[in-house]
Amino acid sequence: MCGIIGILGKGDVSNALLDGLRRLEYRGYDSTGIATLVNSRIERRRAKGKISNLEVLLQKEPLSGSTGIGHTRWATHGRPSENNAHPHATDKVAVVHNGIIENFQELRDELSKQGHVFTTETDTETVAHLLTHLLAQGKTPEQAMAITMSRLQGAFSLAIMFADRSDLMAGARRGSPLAVGYGDGEMFLGSDAMALAPYTNRICYLEEDDWALLTRDGATIYNGDKRVNREVRQTALSGALIGKGNYRHFMMKEIAEQPTVIGDTLQAFVNPLARRIELPKLPVDLARLSRLTIVACGTAYLAGYVAKYWLEKIARLPVEIDVASEFRYRAAPLDADGATLVISQSGETADTLAALRYAKAQGHKILAVLNVPESTIGRESDLVLHTLAGPEIGVASTKAFTTQLVVLAALAIATARARGAIDAKREAELSAALLEVPARAAEVLNHDETLKAIALKVAEARDVLFLGRGASYPIAMEGALKLKEISYIHAEGYAAGEMKHGPIALIDETVPVIVVAPSDDLFEKTASNLQEVRARGGRVIFFSDADGIRRLGAEAMAAVELPKVDPFVAPILYAIPVQLLAYHAAVAKGTDVDQPRNLAKSVTVE
Ligand code: F6R
Repeated sequence: MCGIIGILGKGDVSNALLDGLRRLEYRGYDSTGIATLVNSRIERRRAKGKISNLEVLLQKEPLSGSTGIGHTRWATHGRPSENNAHPHATDKVAVVHNGIIENFQELRDELSKQGHVFTTETDTETVAHLLTHLLAQGKTPEQAMAITMSRLQGAFSLAIMFADRSDLMAGARRGSPLAVGYGDGEMFLGSDAMALAPYTNRICYLEEDDWALLTRDGATIYNGDKRVNREVRQTALSGALIGKGNYRHFMMKEIAEQPTVIGDTLQAFVNPLARRIELPKLPVDLARLSRLTIVACGTAYLAGYVAKYWLEKIARLPVEIDVASEFRYRAAPLDADGATLVISQSGETADTLAALRYAKAQGHKILAVLNVPESTIGRESDLVLHTLAGPEIGVASTKAFTTQLVVLAALAIATARARGAIDAKREAELSAALLEVPARAAEVLNHDETLKAIALKVAEARDVLFLGRGASYPIAMEGALKLKEISYIHAEGYAAGEMKHGPIALIDETVPVIVVAPSDDLFEKTASNLQEVRARGGRVIFFSDADGIRRLGAEAMAAVELPKVDPFVAPILYAIPVQLLAYHAAVAKGTDVDQPRNLAKSVTVE
């Protein structure tokens, strides 16, 4: 979602702003822009579409100036266009903004009556005019910022520069992250530490309702009208721009990295010699927990859905799961003896964060499975279990998902042990099965060519169904989510047994049906559902192991033989072919695989 960068630099900053925007590109955007101060005048360059369009514009019309702000915009209010692209400016103030100003219409009406003329469809422009109005009344930038913070409603982060004040920049955060970077005689603002990594590793994350005034010597941070101190931390993020290596797309690189990052994550949680799970000290007693509430969005939610099957089956722990955007408005009563688990790659998803806060307010301890422990969710959780996937740049989540599954599998085993639901022997067996996953995942990747050939057929379809039972059901949903988000083919993931209650009406020879069915205790049931599809002329693509394929492979239009593993770890492995299928279907359709239309990597609005 929108990315913000701000630099109070030593020399011209427009190239550094562009670099910062490139580092924020992965978040998803549809227009970009920068503004600098040139002889105390605000100058802007903005472009619809990719950063390369802005770059071309800057080559034709370069911008000098050592004070500047930049933005990648993911449209909320107002369609993607050059005019709606940030920075938004008056002759006194320029603003970049991530989030939504909920009361913008009211402010706009009020300011219009005072003679302000609005030229865009955005909510952001209101902030520029409000500040300009306050400055015109003789307020200092500091006073104007304090009043503006009290007037704005919604969730946002802002970076602001003032004409005539090349020594000053302001930042603000409410509900949407913003980091202050400390350089040597330079200061920075950024949506995340990744954007600032080439310039500084000294970062301070603003907290809720904080706003800051930066000069080249440092930052003064306020919360409301009080001055506050916030910790400056060292970040380990590398300044090098993450590349695609020999891959055509980040998504494929990230799919291929899975054996390695799954291995890295396992090392953090499984003792290979003792074949025992070793978790950090938890803020909850797993043995006494009455219920675990899992909340997340999108792919992270589907990882949680797999965990529900694991925790209920092997640990006998009741689990409730919901998408964060629904959970937060359900006013769900939470068990006094329960706890809440949130799952997020970015750690910044607005709905997940709001769900966390809701659960915390009900007295729950918060466990978080996160890929970015320094994120807002990380900072507000009682314990972070870190997925060691490394930065995930492709908008479609792949390696974050499988590493989430690994952490959740370890949590399920530890919970089962704590509750006496499994003995040490079974823990050793399950741990051994987990430790095998990196090698088996590498074997799955060897099916790339087969999956590519199948994907060419899938790419011709208008609708696709994915079916699975038990823990394969969330994998079916994940397959459908991946396919629709990057190839734009309509797909649905269904519980195999539920198909006959509706979606079976869709089956004909034009709708490929992908059946995810490792040979486990539910295999026979799924096999019957497969036959129901066949009996109606449906074309089945079958993902199973050697046993499954021996029994049913002949019924399928195509079958992919995956390694035979303990059914407990099968969801981790079966996630990979659905990713590859979606990837190759998207490439065949020629879509923008890494930055699919309309999508953002880090969803910081509700
Ligand atoms: C799908 C995908 C999204 C995210 C969702 C949550 O491929 O990536 O569905 O899983 O937006 O994001 P995080 O995990 O950052 O909270």
